[in-house]
Amino acid sequence: MGFLDRFKKKDVTLDPIDFSLIGVDMHSHLIPGIDDGSKSLEQTLVMLAKFESLGYKKVITTPHIMSDVYHNTPDIILGGLEQVRNAANDLGLSISVEAAAEYYFDETLLARLQANEELLTFGNKNVLFELSFHAVPDRVEQLIFELKTRGYQPILAHFERYLYYHSNPQKASWFRDQGVWIQLNLNSLGGHYGPEVQRQAEKIIDHGWVDFVGTDCHRIEHLMILEKNATKKYFHKLLELNLQNKSL
Ligand SMILES: [Fe+2]
Repeated sequence: MGFLDRFKKKDVTLDPIDFSLIGVDMHSHLIPGIDDGSKSLEQTLVMLAKFESLGYKKVITTPHIMSDVYHNTPDIILGGLEQVRNAANDLGLSISVEAAAEYYFDETLLARLQANEELLTFGNKNVLFELSFHAVPDRVEQLIFELKTRGYQPILAHFERYLYYHSNPQKASWFRDQGVWIQLNLNSLGGHYGPEVQRQAEKIIDHGWVDFVGTDCHRIEHLMILEKNATKKYFHKLLELNLQNKSL
């Protein structure tokens, strides 16, 4: 590539992507007051209105279920969903809202499964789960086994954010070989979680190891950041993958 070509390439400005091509968001924290996401119904409505104006048709919100920190139950989450739906309806929003959960993987999740406690799912028995950010998870194979034998389809939340996998992006491919789908946070592509997370996100897009994308929206700022970065090259590359969001 000659000097002039490089100069030209740098100057190329892409259009923002059309979020209606993603269509469904499947990772967010919009039920007010039950985790570290929305703090009020008003905040939730502001976020839902923004999702709608970006072009999303549906939001499947996924409050944390994490022992010791967020003791959410299906009753609490579905009760909150009802409240959010009513308020969104009163406001005339047309975006549809569903709820499941983001399950933190620890011993209590294994215990729930072994007790055949029913998990909150979306789509065709999809279960969104996350791993520790600090320690390499022990017994993740067992978790996958327990989920699969009960007919659940596991989806690993924000693979690119686990620092202990940064030297090993192929781990995403390993998870997929075990029948686990990979979810990527859209804001990783704008550098919101730091340059290393961004690089890991780009790598798994390059390899085509991404099945779902999510906003992981906790507050309106996350959607503003998303909108601001939607011109970046990797947002466009993402749309060339066979993303499954629209099937939900
Ligand atoms: Fe999350």
